Amino acid sequence: MIALIWAEDVNGLIGNQGQLPWHLPADMHRFKTLTTGHDVVMGRKTFAGFKRPLPRRTNWVLSRQDLSLPEEVKQLHDLKALQALNAQHPDDLIFVIGGAVVFEAVLPFADLLYRTRIAHTFTGDTWMPNIDYDQWQLVAHQDGVVDEKNSYPFAFDDFKRR
Ligand SMILES: NC(=O)c1ccc[n+]([C@@H]2O[C@H](COP(=O)([O-])OP(=O)(O)OC[C@H]3O[C@@H](n4cnc5c(N)ncnc54)[C@H](OP(=O)(O)O)[C@@H]3O)[C@@H](O)[C@H]2O)c1
Repeated sequence: MIALIWAEDVNGLIGNQGQLPWHLPADMHRFKTLTTGHDVVMGRKTFAGFKRPLPRRTNWVLSRQDLSLPEEVKQLHDLKALQALNAQHPDDLIFVIGGAVVFEAVLPFADLLYRTRIAHTFTGDTWMPNIDYDQWQLVAHQDGVVDEKNSYPFAFDDFKRR
């Protein structure tokens, strides 16, 4: 199964100059909890924004180029390769972790969505593609806790395809 996982602001903004526009440790914690032990698939630009591969996860980078990647990171050259990976492990959950170009490409065959929505407006340059939520059923909702480290109201919503 393929799950998209992302955080967006009220306008669907997800990125700024190759990075996240915000610092929200509670969301990073949830991301880590959900994705640890799984395959994570990301676009070449999202991977470029990381200091290192995500630990305790199999990191896959989507790119049409032949990339020179750290030894433990694997490459997918196209969406067919992602679909083949999914078909090989039908009981596993593969997390697609962005960015916008990859989310748009994978959305038509994703099974699950893990969305964090931050009730704030940020500045940036990369937005989530439009999602028709009529095709998705909300299966879980949790409000985040605002505290000294997490300054903005936020909520976690999980969806499965109808
Ligand atoms: N808020 C969040 O949850 C979140 C999550 C992830 C990322 N982000 C942000 O999003 C931004 C990056 O997103 P982005 O849309 O610019 O780039 P991206 O999706 O991370 O990477 C785009 C690249 O991925 C490769 N790619 C995409 N689709 C492909 C396909 N079908 N087949 C083969 N390769 C494919 C291509 O690499 P080549 O050009 O090498 O072929 C493409 O240029 C950053 O600011 C990042 O911080 C935010």
